[in-house]
Amino acid sequence: MTNFQNELGECVWVKPQNAVDNEFAVPFGARVIRTEKTRTLIANDEGKQFWVPAEDVLKSMHITSQQGVDDMITLGDLQEYAILRNLEMRYEKRLIYTYTGSMLIAINPYQTLPIYTNREVTQYRGKKISELPPHIFAISDNAFQQLKRDRTNQCIVISGESGAGKTESTKLILQYLAAISGKHSWIEQQIIEANPILEAFGNAKTVRNDNSSRFGKYIEIRFTDAGKIQGANIEQYLLEKSRIVAQSRDERNYHIFYCMLAGLSKPELTRLELLENSSTKYHYLSQGGCLQLDGKNDAKDFADIRAAMKVLSFAPEEVWCIFSLLAAILHLGNMQFTATVVQNMDATEATDVVNLQRVALLLGVSKKALATALTQKTIYVHGERVVTSLSRDMTIEGRDAFAKSLYGAIFIRIVERINMTIDTKEKLSKALNTIGVLDIFGFENFSDNSFEQLCINYANENLQQFFVRHIFKMEQAEYEQESIKWQHIDFKDNQEILDLIGMKSVNIMSLIDEESKFPKGTDNTLLEKLHVQHGNRSIYVKPKSNQAALFGIRHYAGVVMYNPNGFLEKNRDSFSMDLREMISKSKNKFLVDIFPLQLPYDTMKKQLTLSVKFRNSLDLLMRTLSAAHPFFIRCIKPNEHKKPNLFDRELCVRQLRYSGMMETARIRHAGYPIRHSYRDFVERYCLLLPKLAPIRTLDCRQVTEDICKQLLTATADYQFGRTKVFLKDVDDTYLEKERARIVLKSIIAIQRGFRRVLFRRQLCRYREAALTIQKVWRGYKQRRDFLIARQGFHRLGACIAQKHLTLHFTRLRSCVTHLQAHCRGYLARRAFKMRQQRHKDLQALRASEELLVRQAKEHQQADRERQSRLGANAAVVAAATAPKPPPRAVSTPNPIVTQAQIHVRERPMNMMNGMNGVNGVNGGNGVNGVNGGNGVNGVNSMNGVNGVNDVNGVHSVITTTKIEPKQPEKQEPTANDDNYMDEESSKQIVDDVFGFLDEADVSSPPVVSNVRAKSLMFERELRLKKDIPIKLLSRPVNYYEAPQRQVMNQMRL
Ligand SMILES: Nc1ncnc2c1ncn2[C@@H]1O[C@H](COP(=O)(O)OP(=O)(O)OP(=O)(O)O)[C@@H](O)[C@H]1O
Ligand SMILES: [Mg+2]
Repeated sequence: MTNFQNELGECVWVKPQNAVDNEFAVPFGARVIRTEKTRTLIANDEGKQFWVPAEDVLKSMHITSQQGVDDMITLGDLQEYAILRNLEMRYEKRLIYTYTGSMLIAINPYQTLPIYTNREVTQYRGKKISELPPHIFAISDNAFQQLKRDRTNQCIVISGESGAGKTESTKLILQYLAAISGKHSWIEQQIIEANPILEAFGNAKTVRNDNSSRFGKYIEIRFTDAGKIQGANIEQYLLEKSRIVAQSRDERNYHIFYCMLAGLSKPELTRLELLENSSTKYHYLSQGGCLQLDGKNDAKDFADIRAAMKVLSFAPEEVWCIFSLLAAILHLGNMQFTATVVQNMDATEATDVVNLQRVALLLGVSKKALATALTQKTIYVHGERVVTSLSRDMTIEGRDAFAKSLYGAIFIRIVERINMTIDTKEKLSKALNTIGVLDIFGFENFSDNSFEQLCINYANENLQQFFVRHIFKMEQAEYEQESIKWQHIDFKDNQEILDLIGMKSVNIMSLIDEESKFPKGTDNTLLEKLHVQHGNRSIYVKPKSNQAALFGIRHYAGVVMYNPNGFLEKNRDSFSMDLREMISKSKNKFLVDIFPLQLPYDTMKKQLTLSVKFRNSLDLLMRTLSAAHPFFIRCIKPNEHKKPNLFDRELCVRQLRYSGMMETARIRHAGYPIRHSYRDFVERYCLLLPKLAPIRTLDCRQVTEDICKQLLTATADYQFGRTKVFLKDVDDTYLEKERARIVLKSIIAIQRGFRRVLFRRQLCRYREAALTIQKVWRGYKQRRDFLIARQGFHRLGACIAQKHLTLHFTRLRSCVTHLQAHCRGYLARRAFKMRQQRHKDLQALRASEELLVRQAKEHQQADRERQSRLGANAAVVAAATAPKPPPRAVSTPNPIVTQAQIHVRERPMNMMNGMNGVNGVNGGNGVNGVNGGNGVNGVNSMNGVNGVNDVNGVHSVITTTKIEPKQPEKQEPTANDDNYMDEESSKQIVDDVFGFLDEADVSSPPVVSNVRAKSLMFERELRLKKDIPIKLLSRPVNYYEAPQRQVMNQMRL
């Protein structure tokens, strides 16, 4: 477990997860989110959070790795993973360039960035490397400035995988140099225009890159003393010829074939007997199944190539000869052969007359000569010429070899022709300084590695050594500058590998060469010799199984296994002598010209093999580079999909390793890998010394020495330079640990204080909250008790009042009852008397009425008699006179009868009025004022009966009431004459009283029910005339009976 685990939020390096067998998995940067005893929660750079075992957190990230740096040499921990993370962080921000000392890392953006305009050209002109952000223009400008200042040759070595951007970088450098050094002259234009021609003949579409350079090139630009471009020279290395005759799936032959078919005019095509836009028709062009490229216009490119050829002074005949030979290659590829047997030996017949004719015509030879040269082989045995026929397969092999050599010769001629134009060495001019740009294939390790890979990797081993020595030199230069003793630096380079492949005697290349010239030499015999010769060397790898026909070399960038199949043939790099002889007799001058002079058969063994040629040109190149001041550009391919903004970590790690970037770190580690400026050192480690003054007032060197002396052991290896302190890894680690310990201690102290403040604040809030709750509770409790007590007092008051009133009422009732008895007795007696009197009056009345009736009857009788007499008289008169009105009917009432009737009717009513007089007494309300008690008004209504006390009023009414027949009063409804209060009514009244108490609002339901119970108890108590305990009044029964509650301690905080 590291010390950094407890530092929350710390940036750390974490072991790669689930990557046991992955050699390219490297630690990654992450931020610690949470730590537990055995595991840590981290967030990686993409923000994804996950747990990792605690021991997988390696160490804290240096501040430089957290922020990202322009120059990775300044990284605190110059490790593979730190370099990778720095590059990734910058790539995300579209910063594709980063320095590592004088080396520039360029990551292919796979998109057009607006960083190569005239503005940038002007911006970077004359600036020091560290002044502006990393840029390829800065490197170009630096080389140019150094050339002008020191008058020394400069070289820029660009390397990287296929598709990493080497060719694009080369073009950018050439454009920048042309822009800043030239006066926009013709030569600059010619140098720039050489590129499309070279790319057309030397580049092809591969699965890794649509415009892959299948050769290496070194462009050397010569400058005058005034810094003007005077000329240039192009050196080409190791063109991939196998592509002429065969292509892998999804790959194409060299661009020029497709451009030619698309761009030649019809008459030209007819002249060459080619078909327009007919790549599919040609065997050499169609094997990859890919004929067209997205975004590439072959016809337009062909026009550009022709224009560039004009700029570079290619003669039209020369151009035509080149196209003729290219057409010959295409027809050659389409030639069909038939296998036959001649004199019991396998032989071949060239039956495809049409193509034979076409090729012969284009090569300037006869049909027969061509057919013979293709199908026969001439050998010399003891000076005698022996001709043997070739089998069909051998004929096809020979044809392909011829086609490859023909194209190789055309390519070399084109480069020579370009050089003739741009390499304008003026007579009498002194040697000029140059800036060379090397665009060369990077280290290659495929599943099947052949002779080409061996050559390429050998070239890269050479470049690696060149690079390492340069870094080592720079390191030494820094030690010298800082006055540091550096003799003890012991660094191992890759000389041993170079010796194995091509430098010491019996090296691999020389063995291949030897075997190529040996008549019985085969690829298998070569492998055996290699095993015997180098089998016991540590850097030579034998395959695990004896069955596997492979051999391996432990390169600086890893082990590469090579398949020796085809090594000898490729190394020989030639075609049959019969074809050579045929060419030498050709009428096509250009063809004769492009092949070197034919060697006689006896000197054949002295003919240069490919490995020799390659080694020679490589030696020359290394000598040139060694004589120049180097700049390195390492191009990195961020992903295999040619997509922008996609960073494949494992792919990049592999390239970083192959680029030899870690050599810088290794060389550093051999000396003093850690160095700090004095101020930086004091700023970082000042806390290791107690009580220092502010840094700006300190002598930083002195403080640095104090820190080192006090903290590091006496035997520790560190040195003080002019401006920096130089430390070994172990001492730096110790200082870091000490610093981390003190920082951790301080963090804990700060955390402690901070937590105390936090907890205290929290506690105060809890206390306040508790007090508030207590306050509210106590207030509520007091109010509730008070209400209960008050209610009790009210109830007690009511009970006492009730007791008094009941007593008073009881007395009053008995008085009223007595009074009622008297009154009723009196009334009954009087009524009886009146009834008696009435009866007597009635009898008298009846007697008088009978008398009157009798008298009336007598009168009536008399009237009737008189009337009858009168009637008789009148009839006599009427009959004698006029008619008379009818006689009036007797309607006048008898006054005596009417009065009597009225009298009889009036008398009972007067009696009723007398009774009503008693009712009127009920209205006496004066007694109400006596009681005044709230809630007992019901009793008052009873007390209203007291109004009857004023019985005089009744008497007066009764006595003064006379029969007044003329004023009959409307009779009121009969009132309740019975004012007597029986027991039921009394109970009802009491219920009403206590009912009121029941309805009274007494805080909670139990109290209400208790009130009722208590009220009944009061009633009982009252009846029993007992004293009621005051406790009972002040509390509801359940509280009274409930056990005492314990008051919690914590509530009294
Ligand atoms: N600086 C750049 N800006 C934009 N695109 C680039 C840049 N560098 C490279 N590319 C893109 O990447 C592609 C491949 O680049 P380039 O041909 O230079 O690779 P290379 O390293 O020369 O590969 P090879 O070894 O196969 O020749 C280019 O065609 C271009 O699309
Ligand atoms: Mg290239």
